[in-house]
Amino acid sequence: MWNPLQDSDSVLGPGRRQRWLCVGTLVLAFSGIFIIGFVFGWFIKSSSESTNIVPHPGMKKAFLHELKAENIKTFLYNFTRTPHLAGTVQNFELAKQIHAQWKEFGLDSVELSHYDVLLSYPNKTQPNYISIIDEDGNEIFNTSLSELPPPGYENISDVVPPFSAFSPPGMPEGDLVYVNYARTEDFFKLERDMKINCSGKIVIARYGKVFRGNKVKNAQLAGAKGVILYSDPADYFVPGVKSFPEGWNLPGGGVQRGNVLNLNGAGDPLTPGYPANEYAYRRELTEAVGLPSIPVHPIGYDDAQKLLEHMGGPAPPDSSWKGGLKVPYNVGPGFAGNFSTQKVKLHIHSYSKVTRIYNVIGTLKGAVEPDRYVILGGHRDAWVFGGIDPQSGAAVVNEIVRSFGTLKKEGWRPRRTILFASWDAEEFGLLGSTEWAEEHSRLLQERGVAYINADSSIEGNYTLRVDCTPLMHSLVYNLTKELQSPDEGFEDKSLYDSWRERSPSPEFSGMPRISKLGSGNDFEVFFQRLGIASGRARYTKNWKTNKVRSYPLYHSVYETYELVEKFYDPTFKYHLTVAQVRGGLVFELANSLVLPFDCQDYAVALKRHAENIYNISMKHPQEMKKYMVSFDSLFSAVNNFTEITSEFNKKLQDLDKSNPISLRIMNDQLMYLERAFIDPLGLPGRPFYRRMKAKESEEHWTNETSEEKEQIIQKKISPQKD
Ligand SMILES: *[C@@H]1O[C@H](CO)[C@@H](O)[C@H](O)[C@H]1NC(C)=O
Ligand SMILES: *[C@@H]1O[C@H](CO)[C@@H](O)[C@H](O)[C@H]1NC(C)=O
Ligand SMILES: *[C@@H]1O[C@H](CO)[C@@H](O)[C@H](O)[C@H]1NC(C)=O
Ligand SMILES: *[C@@H]1O[C@H](CO)[C@@H](O)[C@H](O)[C@H]1NC(C)=O
Ligand SMILES: *[C@@H]1O[C@H](CO)[C@@H](O)[C@H](O)[C@H]1NC(C)=O
Ligand SMILES: *[C@@H]1O[C@H](CO)[C@@H](O)[C@H](O)[C@H]1NC(C)=O
Ligand SMILES: *[C@@H]1O[C@H](CO)[C@@H](O)[C@H](O)[C@H]1NC(C)=O
Ligand SMILES: *[C@@H]1O[C@H](CO)[C@@H](O)[C@H](O)[C@H]1NC(C)=O
Ligand SMILES: *[C@@H]1O[C@H](CO)[C@@H](O)[C@H](O)[C@H]1NC(C)=O
Ligand SMILES: *[C@@H]1O[C@H](CO)[C@@H](O)[C@H](O)[C@H]1NC(C)=O
Ligand SMILES: [Zn+2]
Repeated sequence: MWNPLQDSDSVLGPGRRQRWLCVGTLVLAFSGIFIIGFVFGWFIKSSSESTNIVPHPGMKKAFLHELKAENIKTFLYNFTRTPHLAGTVQNFELAKQIHAQWKEFGLDSVELSHYDVLLSYPNKTQPNYISIIDEDGNEIFNTSLSELPPPGYENISDVVPPFSAFSPPGMPEGDLVYVNYARTEDFFKLERDMKINCSGKIVIARYGKVFRGNKVKNAQLAGAKGVILYSDPADYFVPGVKSFPEGWNLPGGGVQRGNVLNLNGAGDPLTPGYPANEYAYRRELTEAVGLPSIPVHPIGYDDAQKLLEHMGGPAPPDSSWKGGLKVPYNVGPGFAGNFSTQKVKLHIHSYSKVTRIYNVIGTLKGAVEPDRYVILGGHRDAWVFGGIDPQSGAAVVNEIVRSFGTLKKEGWRPRRTILFASWDAEEFGLLGSTEWAEEHSRLLQERGVAYINADSSIEGNYTLRVDCTPLMHSLVYNLTKELQSPDEGFEDKSLYDSWRERSPSPEFSGMPRISKLGSGNDFEVFFQRLGIASGRARYTKNWKTNKVRSYPLYHSVYETYELVEKFYDPTFKYHLTVAQVRGGLVFELANSLVLPFDCQDYAVALKRHAENIYNISMKHPQEMKKYMVSFDSLFSAVNNFTEITSEFNKKLQDLDKSNPISLRIMNDQLMYLERAFIDPLGLPGRPFYRRMKAKESEEHWTNETSEEKEQIIQKKISPQKD
């Protein structure tokens, strides 16, 4: 077991540190008998350079230098040979393999942490599908039961067919209504403007814009009795690129899997707020959090074509409702003319089951502040082969662990403890990370310095993409200035330079864009619930020329090693860059004497948010007057915060870094700053989203450009107009 009580009993605990400082020079001067091995020698060397242990400048270089593209490639190949669906034996086997590898790489300890959580699977003997039925109930068309396997994977069993995880079973039939993306505004359009009643209907929605769980919730609220989700070519097919296996586009039979929960950060639906361990109280299924109440099923665009081609009813309200299929996108309800007697029927036989999942948790104990944790975590479970999601990220984590392990074998340790996590069941609602954080919440809120997320390393090969707390902006900029750009045409330039050129910040001229953290990935519990400074980084596409949501083959069977190797990153140089960014952040966070957080950047961000809300509100002068809204206190608070952070930074300049108490005082204040944004009562109706100004839940793969996001946020916070 990971025993936090041992964290004070360190290689060089804070208590011993004191003695070290006093005795260190004496030892050096009068005797050499204790000096055995590299650790010892290195610390003495450091102490002689300064009165405290300064991070050895060569160590970060050594750490970064040890990261190899070839290894990431080998790990990715190894992790993608078979499916690793959460709750299956294969994924347990991979957990054990990673456990063994991290041990071999040299971590101090590695353990499997398991939970028994609610998962969902299709019935193997009774497949899910959708049919068109004639007036006699004959099934005259059926959607396909599975995707055509990618070449070379024909003989692999246990590929889970496309399904919507946590859909209840059921066989609803009825008339079809096309609801565009099934966003709130789409249902407004239908119900208010077009007077179309979705009650008792089966709705068909295209994937994109918002998380699929929200689509289902909206459909439910509109009274629908079933939901069909499909990938429209307008959203998942980039013109001019071939379908897999000839290219990286979605073929007509490819389908996006995914859960349709609305957990709002609760973790396991049966044990909200508590770890799903042996003695947990489990709710009844009827009391579970976030489960949809109507059957849901996903299909590809070939099948969608068949369902949509004969739709009757009014034409789409405007061009934004038209996708890329050769169908009229009529809204319905029901089919037109000769086909009007036909209906659509869902056949869903999926079931949910409490199933054991396994996180792998590795520890590299800190030399000086072992009771301060920097966490690098990413998931291991995949819908099928996980070529991109998550193994392109998990392979990078493995290489980062290997590099840290190599340094440790040579006698080095980070200043703070680093925890590495391979999460399970992320695809089923961030379950592995959330349950683990629930089990260790007290320690994490007392001792958690930072969390770096490591899901998919790539969603394109154009430029870097970073989302993080404002506390890390300066750290990210500084680190990327030190790294070599992998982009063509930037051979002698830094990553910062190419990133800045390809993805300029909309607010700060001359700087690259960094976005706010949303939700929908494993950082959620750390950032939105516990208030631990968090960040994520990956390579992304050119959003100007490629409007496709996420990447076309997302969550399909075609997310394979070959997809990555042939079309995204043949030399794995982008993976290497992502490893350098994620690993470099972890290195700095775990090793800097003073935590590499700049609180003045938080002040800048708060000021901007406040101004933004003010600007939006000013567009509604009547409402502002009616409700007597004043921004004075908000701006006063932001100004006070700005002043305080500036004073704090001045104090930091004068800090006596050789005084461990003073150092710890400042570091604790930096660490706890993120915690200050936590409201223990949570957001209204969402007790597990406790971070104030939490963004609306976004898709796992956060599709929107920042401009789109801003528009969405603006819609959400502006007063609803009737
Ligand atoms: C993956 O690598 C591990 C460690 O080298 C090895 O034991 C295992 O057999 C490999 N798995 C596959 C499927 O190649
Ligand atoms: C799957 O369907 C079969 C009928 O074909 C049924 O007997 C079985 O209980 C179902 N399995 C589960 C786990 O629901
Ligand atoms: C659809 O599947 C059902 C059940 O297997 C079958 O009875 C029916 O004939 C199929 N229809 C078509 C058009 O294949
Ligand atoms: C799949 O199995 C068939 C029959 O056993 C065999 O002929 C074929 O070569 C196998 N394909 C692959 C890709 O292994
Ligand atoms: C929609 O249809 C349902 C069921 O037919 C009915 O109860 C409901 O009042 C209708 N809603 C509106 C807004 O007409
Ligand atoms: C509808 O059916 C009639 C009679 O079978 C046929 O003449 C007509 O072409 C059909 N219309 C369409 C749109 O398929
Ligand atoms: C990778 O980069 C090349 C060169 O810019 C580009 O043509 C290709 O489309 C990119 N691949 C993907 C999957 O975006
Ligand atoms: C980034 O670099 C600048 C210039 O060297 C330095 O002043 C600043 O403290 C650094 N930021 C962090 C968070 O380390
Ligand atoms: C708010 O509006 C003012 C005045 O138009 C503008 O200068 C400022 O940039 C806006 N701020 C934000 C954050 O949108
Ligand atoms: C900001 O500080 C001033 C001066 O201390 C104080 O009067 C004011 O109430 C503070 N503003 C807020 C919102 O607390
Ligand atoms: Zn993922």
